[in-house]
Amino acid sequence: MMDRKSVEKRIEKLREQIERHDRLYYIDNAPRISDASYDELLRELEKLEETFPELVSDDSPTRRVGAPPRSSLPPARHLMPMLSLDSTTSADDARAFDERLRKALERDRIAYTAEPKFDGLSLELVYENGVLTRAATRGDGTTGEDVTPNVRTIRSVPLRLRGEPVPSLMSVRGEALLPLDGFRELNRRMTERGGPPVAPPPRNAAAGALRQLDSRITASRPLTFFAYEIMKIEGAQTPASHAGELAALTGHGFLIDYHWKECKGIDEAIEFHARLAAAREALPFEIDGVVIAVDSKRDRESVGTRSRSPRWALALKFEPRREITDVEDIVVGVGRTGKLTPVALLKPVDVGGVTVSRATLHNARDLERKDVRTGDRVRIERAGDVIPAVIERIEIAGQKRGEPFSMPAQCPVCGSPVEADGANHYCTGGLSCPAQLKRGIMHFASKGAFDIEGLGDRTVESMVDLGMLGSVADIFRLEKENLLEIEGFAERSAANLLEAVERSKDIALSRFVYAMGIRNVGEHVAGLLAMHYGSLDAIASAPSDELISIRAIGPEVAASVTGFFSNERNRKTVDDLLAQGVAPRPPERMAADLPLAGKAFVFTGALEGITRNEAKIRVQALGGRVSSSVSAKTDYVVAGIDPGSKYEKAVRLGVTVLSIDEFLELLPDK
Ligand code: IVH
Repeated sequence: MMDRKSVEKRIEKLREQIERHDRLYYIDNAPRISDASYDELLRELEKLEETFPELVSDDSPTRRVGAPPRSSLPPARHLMPMLSLDSTTSADDARAFDERLRKALERDRIAYTAEPKFDGLSLELVYENGVLTRAATRGDGTTGEDVTPNVRTIRSVPLRLRGEPVPSLMSVRGEALLPLDGFRELNRRMTERGGPPVAPPPRNAAAGALRQLDSRITASRPLTFFAYEIMKIEGAQTPASHAGELAALTGHGFLIDYHWKECKGIDEAIEFHARLAAAREALPFEIDGVVIAVDSKRDRESVGTRSRSPRWALALKFEPRREITDVEDIVVGVGRTGKLTPVALLKPVDVGGVTVSRATLHNARDLERKDVRTGDRVRIERAGDVIPAVIERIEIAGQKRGEPFSMPAQCPVCGSPVEADGANHYCTGGLSCPAQLKRGIMHFASKGAFDIEGLGDRTVESMVDLGMLGSVADIFRLEKENLLEIEGFAERSAANLLEAVERSKDIALSRFVYAMGIRNVGEHVAGLLAMHYGSLDAIASAPSDELISIRAIGPEVAASVTGFFSNERNRKTVDDLLAQGVAPRPPERMAADLPLAGKAFVFTGALEGITRNEAKIRVQALGGRVSSSVSAKTDYVVAGIDPGSKYEKAVRLGVTVLSIDEFLELLPDK
């Protein structure tokens, strides 16, 4: 046992190291250690804090994992009112703004700063003696919602200010947002679990994550925070300019976006706006304009503010990516998994430089909620690389409306019956439906699946139309003569394709499973299945309760897997593929080889020397399962201090009971 003094020292040291690596990773974008080593530091700290709860402090990095749920978000009054900005999309308005200021300040030219206007949620962070003590949303500008535990989970928010001198009080304003890759990743996880995707824009997902009552949910969303203003400071100097302010924020450990510029006059700021507009699509997060602000703090003071917005700043926004247009028709598209998607055909409209004539209505439930009908006027949005979507219907007084849309009872492509499943509708035709067949084959041949070079979407389309492909297995029956019938194929390209087809027969099991296009089974889930079962047969015959016991696989995914393999036609296709010489390779390291493979654990009582969560993670990493109740199928009950009724039940059922020491012995040294 360490004495208390050395524990304190060790905790201090660990916190310093973790903070440093957080900074290197999240702010400097230059990590120095592996994720595993980082986790080890964090786990050691967690363990020490659990043993010595009196040494836990608000600025400890362990607070970043989230706190227990609250019943509501309490109100928080801001130290300084959070003003809003005047905004415009016109460069002429920006010149008029400059002219007013030049008059007021009696100056020929004014120095501005120009920076991105982040499309997220504005927050006030309060630091007392350098420690983050409160974080609040903007609310009505005077009072917001207290989201402190949630904001602590954002890695780019410093829990303690760096640098000297430490202000006794500092209020920082900035924007929390969900980067686009985080948004896509979140959507992937949601749909793989069988849930509905998160509707764009990412700002809403960020708001949802931030306003959670349970900050552990916030912690699972990769939010980030850009600081841009020191609203109040005591016990340290106020920087004299905005440029100085950004430098001071950087020095204190905040993340500042580097796209900002000191401009000698309004023309440079307008030029910056044009350049940023061009770079917008390539940015990893969403912005909706440029904030142009007087650089000098003294000049800001002398022009002052109006009731809601400062006179010294202007938001020069980008052209909107939302537009209004009319619905000319509603049609239904059929996807790879047979999912029917209602699509609005629109009177073409320019949305931020792109002509849009179709927009998705997602599914029947979404369509019903928005109540969109042919002839209606709607607001649409095109965000980044997302498919344009109908956001809402716009009421027109006295308008005579068309009939409400209803999903067809038959698939519009093949005529098979349509079946409803939650919010979605599916064609039951399976691969006999050409729409599903085409998309299914495209998926089968795609990069993450069989990766057949030369079998692109256009080729698949022609092959199905020409009757050459009636199933994915037909790919392996293609012959050179067939290929030469297709436009664009010659001797050489045909030979190349056949070679690529042959090569693809040697394929990793996980890719094979992914290639099957099973509903809710993306690359990630396919990888888990392959890892856990090691063979196609084992996956195909896995019962659903066993599938559910795999981490990250829920009941809906399990139902999709068992449903797929219990379908006669699907089984035939799989057998046909194997008969054609396709040979799925088992993963190199199989879950079944792991030391605790197949063993079921239950924990009861307080575990000494290891947290519940860590115990669970380690058991799972070694191939075992952890459940919450004891049954005859339980292999081990681990009893800590003061075990509960689970212990008694284990004894009654004759299940092996392990002491915590015996349990720790089962785990190999890390
Ligand atoms: S400066 C007095 N800078 O845009 C206001 N605001 O329409 C000082 N915003 O909710 C704000 N990015 O939170 C400033 N780089 C940026 C910004 C920014 C986004 C937000 C701001 C406000 C909204 C104003």
